[in-house]
Amino acid sequence: MKRLVYFFFVLMALSINVAAQDTHSYANPSAVRVRHVDLDWDVLFDQKILKGTTTLTIERTSQTEPLILDTRDLNIERVETSVNGLEYTPATFTVGTSDKILGAPLTIPLPAGATRVRIQYSTSPGASGLQWLAPAQTAGKKDPFMFTQSQAIHARSWIPLQDTPAVRVTYNAHVRTPRNLLAVMSAENDAHTPRDGDYSFRMRQPIPSYLIALAVGDLRFRTLGPRTGVYAEPQMIDRAARELSDTEKMVVATERLYGAYRWGRFDILVLPPSFPFGGMENPRLTFATPTILAGDKSLVSLVAHELAHSWSGNLVTNATWRDFWLNEGFTVYLERRILEAVYGRAREEMEASLGLRELLEEMATLEDRDEILHVDLTGRDPDDGFTNVPYEKGALFLRHLEQTFGRVQFDRFLRSYFNLLAFQSITTEQFLTHLRQYLLDDNPALAARVPIDEWINNAGLPSSAPKPTSPAFARVEEQAQRWLRGEITATQIPVAKWTTQERLHFLKFVQSALEPPASAGGPADAAATQLSQTERLRLMGELDRAFQLTRSGNSEIAFQWLMMSIQDKYEPAYPRLEEFLLSVGRRKFIRPLYQELAKTPEGKERALAIYRRARPTYHPIAVTSIDQDLKWPSQ
Ligand code: BES
Ligand code: ZN
Repeated sequence: MKRLVYFFFVLMALSINVAAQDTHSYANPSAVRVRHVDLDWDVLFDQKILKGTTTLTIERTSQTEPLILDTRDLNIERVETSVNGLEYTPATFTVGTSDKILGAPLTIPLPAGATRVRIQYSTSPGASGLQWLAPAQTAGKKDPFMFTQSQAIHARSWIPLQDTPAVRVTYNAHVRTPRNLLAVMSAENDAHTPRDGDYSFRMRQPIPSYLIALAVGDLRFRTLGPRTGVYAEPQMIDRAARELSDTEKMVVATERLYGAYRWGRFDILVLPPSFPFGGMENPRLTFATPTILAGDKSLVSLVAHELAHSWSGNLVTNATWRDFWLNEGFTVYLERRILEAVYGRAREEMEASLGLRELLEEMATLEDRDEILHVDLTGRDPDDGFTNVPYEKGALFLRHLEQTFGRVQFDRFLRSYFNLLAFQSITTEQFLTHLRQYLLDDNPALAARVPIDEWINNAGLPSSAPKPTSPAFARVEEQAQRWLRGEITATQIPVAKWTTQERLHFLKFVQSALEPPASAGGPADAAATQLSQTERLRLMGELDRAFQLTRSGNSEIAFQWLMMSIQDKYEPAYPRLEEFLLSVGRRKFIRPLYQELAKTPEGKERALAIYRRARPTYHPIAVTSIDQDLKWPSQ
């Protein structure tokens, strides 16, 4: 009897775990689970749609429940089911009412023995996970371009599937495009396939839906190393290959730290500038913004980041979007370890210290609920919960564990974590169970020093949180202080000898010194005495003349400078601001610029005038965010 009770207890615990409900999906994987997806499309640029079929191979634990799929704005034309995968018979289906965030459930009753479901459909031109670029938005200006972005819940806008990271599928795809264009996917493909408009792909490892990706354009390929390469438009390929030439080294360094790279190749696709993110870790083919092409490899931490996801995220995956910190916190921690291995400790210290600063600055503006690693996103769009918290606070948590247990032991823990949980999707609770079993329980004295529950469930940072610092940044601050006190001129600041990270830190330090005390939030250092507007403008002008900041071709420097220019109303930078907003679509840059502009009435007018022109060139994901921020009418 006792054993029976125990058995039921375990069963309940398990089913709670399995059902750890993904509140961002209608799917019912505990009754019917999709295991494999066959995709077949025509890419129709003139109509801005994908048209074709998706065939799902399913596994059933219930012979009565229907298959429920996630969809958004799909035109479902016909559904069929099959017992043997050869003969298909028409099936009934219903598309439920559409929710603004979740889209609509597609419910398909299943006949006895059905193992396949084939859906004939097309996407809609406004699909949230697709962007269709006119030739003018490409480097080549001749051909159109399209690409997908599935994370977090946009796969459903181009594929009817169980759009939850708890479900992993293998996939095959067959894609027809205009004859002169090349299609690439997050799957095995032949880089030297004849360009005939007919392309095939195979992903043999089970991945979550948010990692299914496709891009089509006039693309070239260049080899970087034995397992690494880069795709880009012909006009960009040389620059891209030069910038990314350390990629193979990074793969080697990461394998040394965390075990074998399990995905075969690691290629990078450099997209046109409207790509809304810095990077996206699509397996075998990371998607990247061209804004990392600084000319001096100074922004390649993004490559380290997306590569790190090949372990944290793509091998071991967050089961729901409230567990997102398991993907991103681990990845930022790994990213910094890769940077340290490839570029040395000083670089790592600078990146970690910039990360901490950004986290603290952002947390000063966040509600408590958004500062929690195990965040509750129920009823919210996961795209809105996008902050530095899962990234930087998550990474600090792992850094705290590393410092407490020592590198040797913590590295061993991480290697076994990636091996034991490879190709699984896990919740925060499952991670904590694993952590206890493989690290904490063996070392109770050390474990007592890390307030696990506080890290996972509280707002803010535990008082014992690590505070990464950089000696190089301390030297930068000294120079900045001397300049702000009038002891040296801007031309005497040794900026030419500084790395991009040091320059960024210099600008951020000056920014908080120039900041009017009312809106303080940055470090209230000695220099932060109240400066008049004229004085601030004089200082901005001096910096600009000395370092040509308005003309900087480094996207991170340009962004930082433009933010300061808006804050201090430094008008000589306005034409560059406009040009930047009209040519870059990376949300991390453009959203804060619009938000900063919108803080004053004149700025808001300027923002709206620029946005009116830029909006048609931005990705739907960026448009949704900025529409909200600027209260753009068309919502
Ligand atoms: N997976 C993310 C991008 C993402 C997250 C897209 C959530 C959609 C929803 C990617 O790995 C990432 O974090 N990119 C960062 C760059 C990175 C260096 C911090 C970005 O795009 O800014
Ligand atoms: Zn990431």
